[in-house]
Amino acid sequence: MRKSESASKIGKFCTDLPRTPLCSHLPTPLERAPRLSADLGGPEIWFKRDDLTGLALGGNKIRNMEFIFGELLGRGCDSVITTAGVQSNMCRATAAAAGKLGLKCVLLLRGTGEEERQGNLLLDDLLGADVRFLSTKDPYDPRTPGWLEDIQTELKEDGHSPYILHLTGETSSLAACAYVDAAEEIVAQIDDLKISPDHLFVTAGSGVTIAGLVLGFKNLGRDLNVVGIMCSNSTRDFLSDRITIYANGAAERLGLSTQVNQGDFQLHDAYVGPGYSRCYPEVVDTIKLVAAKEGILLDPVYTGKCMVGLKDRIARGELGDSGEIVFLHTGGAPCIFADAGTISS
Ligand SMILES: Cc1ncc(COP(=O)(O)O)c(C=O)c1O
Repeated sequence: MRKSESASKIGKFCTDLPRTPLCSHLPTPLERAPRLSADLGGPEIWFKRDDLTGLALGGNKIRNMEFIFGELLGRGCDSVITTAGVQSNMCRATAAAAGKLGLKCVLLLRGTGEEERQGNLLLDDLLGADVRFLSTKDPYDPRTPGWLEDIQTELKEDGHSPYILHLTGETSSLAACAYVDAAEEIVAQIDDLKISPDHLFVTAGSGVTIAGLVLGFKNLGRDLNVVGIMCSNSTRDFLSDRITIYANGAAERLGLSTQVNQGDFQLHDAYVGPGYSRCYPEVVDTIKLVAAKEGILLDPVYTGKCMVGLKDRIARGELGDSGEIVFLHTGGAPCIFADAGTISS
């Protein structure tokens, strides 16, 4: 990993954005995984432990919420409405942040309401969210904006000032700023540790996290190769487009002249398996391997698939057998319990 930017710039890029502290454990640890590395036989693996960001079982979404709630509170809102799948980590993070800050939170989850109260759905209840269900499974259902606005009207009639958190382009670029900040954090840690990883592996879902990282590393002049492992059935072209839009939107928000293009990162779509949130045997074996070797819990929807991808790239000899790799652990532990039937069978 080439170093070309002065260390004094680290930690400086996001300071002008409103930010609400929610991650109680920053910087998250960057820790080596000696037993797993020995087992896989490639470069030494280092886990960036964003599963430990600190609020309500942590994960990458808590970092995003620091910036989203910064904006929301800056606008004087007292309530938040968001939507995603029944086992959404993002919704759990929203509920936790809202609860901690004394805001009302309405979650519109794509489901029937008959689902078992497990995993994130159970936690949404515990965290005090007002949980409602949408009769669609399609994240791009054109009726969704209307449903969100209906709740907005309802809350306004009750005297609230609600914020709609819909991860469209604009909010996604704001959320990506959190990972520009995290990229700076990672660079400071690897410099302190005097390691020089060539690759960073991360799950690419919506693309927000990878977008922020790629922008952050590029802006610091670091040629760390960011590898995104896809976990859903969108095409690589579609996701690459989203990532560049989010990254360049974040650059604009932060007043950075750095621009991200599709050549700045890699995306692999070979590890999705039967589809988004559908686990397959190799993911289960990988979760068990990492748990047994390192005591680190991956999840079946995101990080488990990312580790399947990393294992495969090592087995193919693409990553060599020396040096270091960073694996960004983005959290998701509640999904282990929601998927217990598949994982334990
Ligand atoms: C645990 C976990 N890891 C990774 C991701 C993917 O992050 P992104 O949507 O920013 O690509 C998500 C998204 O929901 C997540 O919940």
